[in-house]
Amino acid sequence: MKQFNNSVSVSAPGKLMLFGEHAVVYGRPCLVTAVGQRMKATVELTDEPIFQLNAPDVQVINYLKPMRKLGIGDIPKGARFIEIAVKNFTHARPGLVKLKGVKVTTQSEFSSLFGFGSSSASTVCVIKALSELTNADLNNKAIFNLAYKTVLDIQGKGSGFDVAAAIYGGTLYFVIGGKVIEPLNIDSLPLLIGYSGIKADTVSLIDEVSKKAKKYPEVIENIYDNIGKLVEQAKIAILSKNWQTLGELMNTNQKLLENLGVSAEKLNNMISAARKAGAYGTKLSGAGGGDCIIALHSVQGKLAIKKAIEAAGGQIIDAKTNVEGVRIES
Ligand code: MEV
Repeated sequence: MKQFNNSVSVSAPGKLMLFGEHAVVYGRPCLVTAVGQRMKATVELTDEPIFQLNAPDVQVINYLKPMRKLGIGDIPKGARFIEIAVKNFTHARPGLVKLKGVKVTTQSEFSSLFGFGSSSASTVCVIKALSELTNADLNNKAIFNLAYKTVLDIQGKGSGFDVAAAIYGGTLYFVIGGKVIEPLNIDSLPLLIGYSGIKADTVSLIDEVSKKAKKYPEVIENIYDNIGKLVEQAKIAILSKNWQTLGELMNTNQKLLENLGVSAEKLNNMISAARKAGAYGTKLSGAGGGDCIIALHSVQGKLAIKKAIEAAGGQIIDAKTNVEGVRIES
């Protein structure tokens, strides 16, 4: 018979969008990879009907709330995703063990400023942990549905690609809402990650693009269509390790993102420096405006590209790609 523990530690990876950002919000596919810097959460079931959260990375220290008030009233920014995740899990009532109180402590290996999806990864950790502790045994798709609902409850928009990367790990071909979540059978990718030092605001960038789409519907739909087609080709290039073609497709995707108006001067400088230093291809990754760029490199070209990104003011983030998804740590 299964033992019921009252505490478990879970970790989930961050993510990097490889191809297809923005267009994925409007039904086109994207490619995303899970990165080897992880979010960790320890979740404990308690006897008091209180939700407790410690998330020092986002300045949430000893936050307390009665369980019956979850989701009600003011919630500090750093506590939102976890509180709503616990609420959504409680309301869905999937487990055999009833939740009285829940204590969560999170710890991140990466800064929430990078755009690696810290909110989605912590949401996934908490739902996975509650599933384990209550013997609900949710499968990956059920965890996805609850975590994606949590993201939409808070942000109102988003494709869910970051949630999928945190759960499934690896490198995924993904369609909004998890309509398609297809793991690609590949090794890690020869990517350099350069952080711009600027925090991107995903929701306002999505809003800006959608305003443009209202003004110039055909032009923007056309860009989405082209990004979608490019993702299909990139999928083939990744599977066949054709880095030259993959790099060209990255550069084309970057052009289309510039046409959508989501690139930024700092990103453009880092991108052109990496290209001049010999990258196969390079583009922004995520919503744009800031966060990171990714550059595809050859073995011998890596150091020069790294230096070029740094000289353009970027910070190299050392992280593997294509890593394992959510897992129980102890
Ligand atoms: C943000 O990292 C990527 C977007 O496509 C939003 C999303 O897919 O949720 C802009």
